[in-house]
This record gives sequence, C-alpha cells and structure tokens, in this order.
Amino acid sequence: MEPTNQKFLERVVSHRALQMGNSFPCQICVVGFLCGICLTSLFLAVLTSVGTFGFTGISFSSLSMGVSPWNSSSEIVNVISSSDCNFKVKETERWVDLKQREPERNDDGERVSLLTEAWGALLADRQPEENEFLQRFRFSKSSLPSAPHLENCKLSARLNKRLDSRSGAGKFPPWTTWKGSLNMYPATATATATDGNVRRLTHQPVSDGAHPPWIVGSDEENYPLTRKVQRDIWIHQHPINCSDPNIKFLVADWEVLPGFGIGAQLAGMAGLLAIAINEKRVLVTGHYNRADHDGCKASRSSWSCYFFLETSQECRDRAFELMKNKDAWEKGIIKRKDDYKTKEIWTGKIPRVWGDPWSYLQPTTDINGSLIAVHHKMDRRWWRAQAVRYLMRFQTEYTCGLLNIAQHAAFGEEAAKMVLASIDREWPKVITNKPKSDIEEFVWSNHRPWVPRPLLSMHVRMGDKACEMKVVEFEQYMGLAHRIRMRFPHLNNIWLSTEMQEVIDKTKSYPHWNFYYTNVKRQVGNASMAAYEASLGRKTSTNYPLVNFLMAVESDFFIGALGSTWCFLIDGMRNTGGKVMAGYLSVNKDRFW
Ligand SMILES: *[C@@H]1O[C@H](CO)[C@@H](O)[C@H](O)[C@H]1NC(C)=O
Ligand SMILES: *[C@@H]1O[C@H](CO)[C@@H](O)[C@H](O)[C@H]1NC(C)=O
Ligand SMILES: *[C@@H]1O[C@H](CO)[C@@H](O)[C@H](O)[C@H]1NC(C)=O
Ligand SMILES: *[C@@H]1O[C@H](CO)[C@@H](O)[C@H](O)[C@H]1NC(C)=O
Repeated sequence: MEPTNQKFLERVVSHRALQMGNSFPCQICVVGFLCGICLTSLFLAVLTSVGTFGFTGISFSSLSMGVSPWNSSSEIVNVISSSDCNFKVKETERWVDLKQREPERNDDGERVSLLTEAWGALLADRQPEENEFLQRFRFSKSSLPSAPHLENCKLSARLNKRLDSRSGAGKFPPWTTWKGSLNMYPATATATATDGNVRRLTHQPVSDGAHPPWIVGSDEENYPLTRKVQRDIWIHQHPINCSDPNIKFLVADWEVLPGFGIGAQLAGMAGLLAIAINEKRVLVTGHYNRADHDGCKASRSSWSCYFFLETSQECRDRAFELMKNKDAWEKGIIKRKDDYKTKEIWTGKIPRVWGDPWSYLQPTTDINGSLIAVHHKMDRRWWRAQAVRYLMRFQTEYTCGLLNIAQHAAFGEEAAKMVLASIDREWPKVITNKPKSDIEEFVWSNHRPWVPRPLLSMHVRMGDKACEMKVVEFEQYMGLAHRIRMRFPHLNNIWLSTEMQEVIDKTKSYPHWNFYYTNVKRQVGNASMAAYEASLGRKTSTNYPLVNFLMAVESDFFIGALGSTWCFLIDGMRNTGGKVMAGYLSVNKDRFW
C-alpha cells in the first residue's frame, strides 16, 4: 500500500495529520495550585479535605478571621472561589477518582490531607517562603517528610545537563561513570576506599561500549541496536566543533498547520532527522508552536521548553549564523525544511547506517488476540521509535514539574498514607527528620518516583476519530485489561487517558479496578476534536496530553489503538524504554500495515 503518487500521498498525510492532530484530552489541572498561590499571597490558610470534591465558596470575611489549616480541614473543604481566583468550581476538582474511597474522619485523615497539601504547596509555580509555609501549615519546610512520588526536578535537570554536554573539547559526556548523583560521590577529588587504596576519580573518555544513560534496560528489552543507535545519533548531533566548515545543517521548524497535533509533529520531525542523518547534516529545530504559551517562559516557542534540545547551543548558534550567509545557502551547507518534498519527509528513506535491524525485530504486539510476527513498514516503526526516543531523551525541569503535579494529584494521598504509616504517629508535633545519609543522597535519590505498580496505562480515543477508523468501544479495551490481569492478578491500577466523558462514566461499571484520571473538561457528544482542543487553550492542550504520554511510557503495561499515531509513538517510546517484554495490546492495527 505504498502511496506512490504525490496527490495521494499528500492526502494521506493531511488525513493522518488530522487524525493525529486532534486527539488529546487535555487539561493540566494546575488550577488548584494556582488557586493555592493566589491564596497564599493573601496569607490565607487553605486546605482541602479528603473525600469532598465540591468546593464551597467561602466568603472573604470569614477567611480573614484566620481559619487555621488544622481546624478547617476537619470540617469543610475550602478551596476558595473568590473573585481573585476566578476559576470555575468544576476545574478545581481533584484528578483522581476517589469515589470508592471512604472519607476519613479520624485524625489520620487530617494528617494525610495536611501532608498531601504541604507537598502540593511546594509544587506551586512560586514556592511559598518559609514563613508563609509556617503560617499555612504550622510546621517548617524542613520538617516535611520527603515525598516518594515526586522527583527533584532541579536536581535531575542539572544531572542530565551534565550527561548531555561534552565535558571538554573533544571529550564525551561522563556516560561511563555511575548513575545520577553517584557520579558526584565522594565530593572531593580523592577518597580513601575502605581497603586503604586511594581511588582517583577522573572522567575517562567514553569507551566504545558506553551507552547513553537515557536508555533503560538491556539490548534484549529494547528494539534492536537501540543503545548503539541512540549513542550514534547523539554523536551525530553533537559534533566536536560546530564551527568546523565541513559541518552542514538542516534547520527545520516544527509543523504548524492547524491539523497537526503533537504526534504528527513528532512524526514529521522523525522524518527530518532521518534526512539529516542520511545527508550528514546536524538537525536544528526551530519554532515549536506548542511551546508558545507563558508556561514556557525563557524557552518560549522552542522544543527546549519540554525536552533537551536536539543539538548543542553552539551548533544552533552556528546554524542561525549561517542562515544569514548567502554563500552557505548556495553551497548547500545549510538547508531548511522547504528544500525537501513532503514525500521525502513523511515516507523517505530510513537511515541504513546501522544496516537493517528491523529485519530481525520481533514485535511484541498483540492485535485483537493475535501476536503479530511480522508486518509492513517495520523499518518505519523502528526508526520513529529511535527518533522520538532521541528527541525526548531528557525532560526539562518544566516537564518534570508537570509530571510531578500530575502524580501528586493522582497518587499524593496514597503516598501520604504510606509515609505517615512509617513515621512518628505524632507528626508534625514530633519531627523525626534526620539529615540525609549518603546512601539516600547519592544512591537512592536516583530512583524513579513511586507510582502504584503495576500500573496499566490505557489511551481510549473516540471523538471524531470515528470518521477515520472503526471506533472501538471502551468495553473492548477493558476486555484486554482483563486479559492482562488473568496473567498478572496483582494488577489493578489503570491510568486512563481519554478525552471522552462517556468513557469516564463507564469506569463506574468496573469497580474492581482503580482508575486514575484527570478531571478535566472533556468532550461531550460529537463536537470536533479541533474545537475541543481549541477550547482548552494552547498550554493545556499541549501539557496535558504530554503528561499522559509520559505516564503511558512509564507504565508497566499499555493498551491503545495502534491505528492512532499517538499510540504508535507511545509504542515506540516503550520499545526503546526497556518495555519490549511488557508487550503491547492494541485494539486495532496501523492503517499502513
Ligand atoms: C482549633 O479550634 C479549637 C476550638 O474549636 C481551638 O481551641 C484550637 O486552638 C484550634 N486549633 C488551632 C490549631 O487553631
Ligand atoms: C573550531 O573550528 C574553527 C574553524 O576551523 C576554528 O577556528 C576553531 O579554533 C575551532 N575550535 C576549537 C575549539 O577547536
Ligand atoms: C476482534 O476479534 C473478535 C473475535 O475474535 C471479533 O469479533 C472482533 O470484531 C475483532 N475486532 C476487531 C477490531 O477486529
Ligand atoms: C453531532 O450530532 C448532531 C445530532 O446528534 C448532528 O446534528 C450534528 O451534525 C453532529 N455534528 C457533527 C460535527 O458531526
């Protein structure tokens, strides 16, 4: 079914783009936190209590009488819908569906919500100052037990930056040393090991066997050659000297046509990366419309709002400098997207520098009950996975923060219960925080944040997709979930990502599963996806699906529809993220197979 003529191809592309472009149920529910800030700035104490989801508007005067968090939490919920914080009541609902959980009335419930809220306060855009925090929670920040479900985003962004930069002229990043913070231990240059030998810590140049730290798992748990390919792409994109006159560039903006969603944009960029590799050019990405919102601050309109850049700043500067140089254009040292045909970008040649590893790729995809052994376009599937993995290799502090917010909303309360069960019963009256030991700081801090595992992620897409592929009912997805549970009976958590309200409503018929999802504005009826996305706004319609995407990549299992490019890319990320052996259950297959 290789599309041959250009017209047909373009139709397919726009078709695909439309399909990919519109999906995503998306709203990041920072509202609660924003509201928190707004209130904090007014020095008001606010707590939400467990088990209550409506928000009672509290008049300003009653608040200014100084309701303390302690007392207010036992009685009522009081996130405020005052005029200063003009959010709709509905939007401040919690993400997690807590319907099956009993409201807790005892002291423990109070402590749980106190701890949950205090963690939440530290996730706000503007962290409360110590005295603000004290006033609000009646204990100091340092008395707060650490949150197992949250990542230290500042720290990980800093560590990853080290891993993404050459450590000196001609040197590699320190990929051969130990993971994360362990790399920094001990802080002094020499240390005496217990056996009396003196160890010298110098960064060795990368050895041939070193593989990039963003690849989890061994070769057997990823698509063929993933570790080697990722390393080679990184080297390709990070030449030792960007000013070297032999270095050529391909500068490309992200697709901006309205029909192009995040998935389509990524697929397009994967095609451009293939061209760049084939033509030995450094790919430099330009304007990224989805980052065109005020959440992105300094990196507005750039991929670097969400993920580390595809190449070094030096190379980008060099490329932008060359763009002003007529000579460079004439000599073909620099090219841009418009120099290539749509067909070259979307169905062009897959790089063969690594041979054809897809020829021995063994898919672990189950489609409606049968395990697929082979299919068309395995090369494209393999390449897109590599390209997307490379582009998303390191999250920025911003993206990491979005995940923190989502995970806190979903799992914060459970985390608080676990933590409280393990510390002094009198907390926060009795504080037992000890200074962090080295093993906590250097070894354990490198672990991923806690999520209730095993976790199954499910992306249920209906909406206006119906016009392009057969709509699959939620029941069918749940059937697949049931199949997984037959084999893994300890599975009962589902991270549900969907834009359809009716899907959420149907979860009530499955009381034996724990559903986590975001209570965002959802599509009702048959409104077009584009209209729905537009109604969410740029920031929300980007951030929210992205969070779901990354959750799906991290989950133990995944169920989706390979017929949607979005799920196709999730599949790619999982297959380069150590999850090959988890398998993939799809309700349908890619239309081009
Ligand atoms: C809570 O309210 C009671 C009276 O209802 C009061 O005695 C107590 O001091 C209050 N606690 C705090 C922490 O404000
Ligand atoms: C990089 O290459 C340019 C041009 O050849 C040269 O002038 C410059 O000194 C080189 N920089 C380094 C750090 O080698
Ligand atoms: C999946 O298989 C069942 C029977 O095995 C069939 O009834 C159903 O239509 C199939 N679904 C799809 C989407 O092919
Ligand atoms: C949505 O459904 C209504 C009736 O159910 C119909 O009149 C309308 O044309 C539909 N809109 C779209 C965009 O399909």
